[in-house]
Amino acid sequence: MAITKICCIGAGYVGGPTCSVIAMQCPHIKVTVVDISAQRISQWNSEKLPIYEPGLDDIVKKQRNVNLFFSTNIEESIQEADLIFISVNTPTMTFGVGKGRAVDLTYVENCARTIAQVSTNNKIVVEKSTVSVRAAENILKILNANDKPNVKFQVLSNPEFLSEGVAVENLLNPDRVIIGHEETADGLWAFKELSKVYLNWIPESKILKTNIWSSELTKLAANAFLADRISSINSISVICEAIGADVSEVAKGIGLDSRIGPKFLQASVGFGGSCFQKDLLNLVYICECLNLPQVAVYWQQVLDMNVYQKSRFSNKIIKSLCNTVTGKKITMFGFAFKKDTGDTRESPAIYVAKTLLDEGAKLNIYDPRVEPGQIKKDLTHLYVTDNPENVIKSIEIHDNPYKASHSTHAIIICTEWDKFVNLDYEEIYKHMIKPAFIFDGRKILNHKTLATIGFQVHTIGKR
Ligand code: NAD
Ligand code: UDX
Repeated sequence: MAITKICCIGAGYVGGPTCSVIAMQCPHIKVTVVDISAQRISQWNSEKLPIYEPGLDDIVKKQRNVNLFFSTNIEESIQEADLIFISVNTPTMTFGVGKGRAVDLTYVENCARTIAQVSTNNKIVVEKSTVSVRAAENILKILNANDKPNVKFQVLSNPEFLSEGVAVENLLNPDRVIIGHEETADGLWAFKELSKVYLNWIPESKILKTNIWSSELTKLAANAFLADRISSINSISVICEAIGADVSEVAKGIGLDSRIGPKFLQASVGFGGSCFQKDLLNLVYICECLNLPQVAVYWQQVLDMNVYQKSRFSNKIIKSLCNTVTGKKITMFGFAFKKDTGDTRESPAIYVAKTLLDEGAKLNIYDPRVEPGQIKKDLTHLYVTDNPENVIKSIEIHDNPYKASHSTHAIIICTEWDKFVNLDYEEIYKHMIKPAFIFDGRKILNHKTLATIGFQVHTIGKR
């Protein structure tokens, strides 16, 4: 059997870009991305896609309704597919045992139940969502409990390693593709079928064959290592501030060691995004369940350091502004969790904004890609405030950085958008309340130039 029809359940940040690239690279395969959210599907079928990713619009425009389809008809798409990706969200549990730590596999399980229920021929089911270890076992249990003896399922683990903002680039040229399969003849066959899809554009040397449990754990471990690097350099930034060293110089010196390498050593206000915190919490929970408390504590520390870094930065703002921000107008440049995305999930900007709003500040917020409605939603969320009306009164969302900074006391760089580097800071300075402060939480600006203009400049990892 050669794969000619793929169904992807979940039209989100992973399902959408991944399947768009598969459709582009495999014109002989019909790819249908389905979702329970009719709104999301209609956005994928519109001019304005539900997510912003550089390069994605062009691919979708080229492939849509050729061999790439977005649909809410989940059952029909499952029925006709040879291979099904499960790319649904796997958030941290918000209730019950494991609340705030374990990963919630309800959506994955629902997919497995629907597949079991509606399938009328053999399927390869691919776990692409990030799950907890041994989740594939439960998926297989559900699939095999169907009452159609002639329908056989193979489950593969094929975690996604794309980073938002560079998703298309990552998907076209991944560092590796990991495929975990059952150690049986049928498992090996399924591995080969999925490999053939990727081999349309990815060299065989980049496809790593593992058992299912290794594949599932590799995803969690990779994110834990990446987050660990950020917390490590952020911990060094604290020492730099205490002794007068410069964390950028230290990071450069560390990164020149070829065993360490230069990437992912940018000290910052802290890491955000939908993956690192969730996957680390999941890893810590797994360790606790396995009765490995020392390992759990080790990884928990990476998260604790991130909270510390976010709170240190927020406190520095308050301290520098004469120990009070009550009634002061402060500009936030950037709200997304990183540049080149409109995604705000776990964005450090939310933490900084919450701290300042709790202290009575008024915020002018500007982000080139985040929708105003999303900013309001994030800042009025139950976890952020118990007084949403007051938050709405205390924030203004701007579509222009110059207007956003007009008549404010301070600018905080929360996201490293390239656009912020090239703004006319002399012009901005003229219209700010003096002394005018800049808090560069991403270390992207030229601090010497800003100081010459007259700004009071504060950053991370440097006095
Ligand atoms: P997302 O929230 O953007 O998208 C998930 C989609 O699944 C939603 O649109 C939701 O409506 C849909 N969905 C949920 N249950 C469904 C069901 N039963 N049937 C049909 N649709 C359903 O999530 P995401 O960011 O794309 O992440 C998906 C998975 O990939 C997660 O496990 C995540 O950890 C992992 N991952 C994410 C990234 C990333 O950068 N966002 C990178 C690698 C891995
Ligand atoms: C991450 C992983 O990189 C990716 O492999 C996985 O599939 C999903 O999770 P993502 O969260 O999209 O990707 O972005 P990433 O580039 O990893 O950045 C995460 C956060 O760390 C951002 O807030 C970013 O600003 C921050 N970061 C990153 C730093 O603070 N310093 C760095 O050196 C790198």
